[in-house]
Amino acid sequence: MLQEDNAQREGKIYGGKVTPLVLVICLVAATGGLIFGYDVGVTAGSTSSNEFLRKFFPSVYIKMKCEMDDEDGYCRFDSQMLTLFTSSIYMAAMVAPFFASSVTTAYGRKASMILGGLVFFVGSFLGSAAMNIEMLIIGRLLLGVGVGFGNQSVPVYLSEMAPTMLRGALNIFFQMAITIGILVSSLVHYSTANLEGDLGWRFPLGFAAILGLIMALGSLLLPDTPNSLLTKGQNGKAKELLQKIRATEEVDEEFQDLFKASEAAKKVENPWKNITQRRHRPQLVLCILIPFFQQLTGINVVMFYAPVLFKTLGFGDRAALMSAVLTGIVNVLATLVAILLVDKLGRRFLFFQGAIQMIICQTTVAVMIGLRYGSTGEGFFTTTEANMALFLICAYVAAFAWSWGPLGWLVPSEICPLEIRSVGQAINVSLNMTLTFAINQSFLSMLCYMKFGLFFFFVLFQIMMTIFIYFFVPETRGVPIEDMKRVWKAHWFWQDFVPDY
Ligand code: BGC
Repeated sequence: MLQEDNAQREGKIYGGKVTPLVLVICLVAATGGLIFGYDVGVTAGSTSSNEFLRKFFPSVYIKMKCEMDDEDGYCRFDSQMLTLFTSSIYMAAMVAPFFASSVTTAYGRKASMILGGLVFFVGSFLGSAAMNIEMLIIGRLLLGVGVGFGNQSVPVYLSEMAPTMLRGALNIFFQMAITIGILVSSLVHYSTANLEGDLGWRFPLGFAAILGLIMALGSLLLPDTPNSLLTKGQNGKAKELLQKIRATEEVDEEFQDLFKASEAAKKVENPWKNITQRRHRPQLVLCILIPFFQQLTGINVVMFYAPVLFKTLGFGDRAALMSAVLTGIVNVLATLVAILLVDKLGRRFLFFQGAIQMIICQTTVAVMIGLRYGSTGEGFFTTTEANMALFLICAYVAAFAWSWGPLGWLVPSEICPLEIRSVGQAINVSLNMTLTFAINQSFLSMLCYMKFGLFFFFVLFQIMMTIFIYFFVPETRGVPIEDMKRVWKAHWFWQDFVPDY
């Protein structure tokens, strides 16, 4: 591992400073994360409106009302049909990145961001105006397409725009926007939960349109990245932009590296075939395993089911919703910690620290639930125990928010050379969404079947992902994005896959 640190220190340091312009550009681009975050929140909240369920899912509504009292405590909320509906967004988002990657490569990152925002806007509009289930589902699929385009292009945009020494922090603006989106969504649901009639569900769905519009209009004002401009053959414009965002004329070295990368990318006929070549094995493996492990931390169990979880632990209806708002606030604040530390302590430190904290918190909660609720799900927590569980769940969310959450978007977007960056990110997004879908779809049945053991299931994966990071994920802090090859060359395992240069 020492070898890797040396490789990083010996790497290039480009001229230029962090300018207010680049900060503003990255802030605007990161708003693309809002739409994803809002949808994670909507997934959690859509079951909370009785009016919504009565209108679109009457059988689920009746089942919920009748069976509340006489089922196994772990199985009360299991309803495949409703989760299938909420998951539909992730199904669309699994497929969309593959199309987004072609748009992003051919027309630039900005084009995908604008398109993502617009499609999301239309989808929210349709959903909130839905008169029947068809409209609702089409709206939801469009939301997924918007998210697929946004998540494919925004992290790459941020990593390309940012100066090397601050790439981690600026990229994590994206995760920050995700967490703000989740929080806003839970606040909107909290405050509309008691509205009479359709407004209680139409308003939260319609509110999303504003976020889509912010993303589309914001992106319209942004320049494309220098890397995208070079790919489109606009070399002069690319250099000018680089000088502007780095606030110096001395950008030759960085520009040359970008130029070389874009020339290499132009020679590639099929990036999908290209990424499967042996020399790109480290990137391919990481773009597959990082989203896989990110979702198997179990984070979305808390994000989607926090109110249900807190209700099961004995909190009242409103207290349960309020606790979900609390985890949302912790999520936002802890992401700030990642922004401050990622370029100082590095990615690997955060990966390790976060995972260890998640393992401790989730194991303790699982043991507590196991002791109190046993295998029947019948039992109760004392107030002190309930508060302790709430504290542990918040500490778990915080750990995710400064580790696997942001790094799950940052690392895949910075490890791929330009020629496979778009497809690498498409794989990352698509797998992330597939796993999100699978967890959303199966969590309630798994809880019903595995009881409190389900939490140990996630702990097992947290241990595996920590071992994986230790052996296979090198430190990328401070390494220029188009100079990443040196990191693989210095890695004990990956060096044999990467040709000399
Ligand atoms: C993950 C989402 C998750 C969110 C929580 C993101 O990085 O991809 O699945 O809901 O973090 O903040």
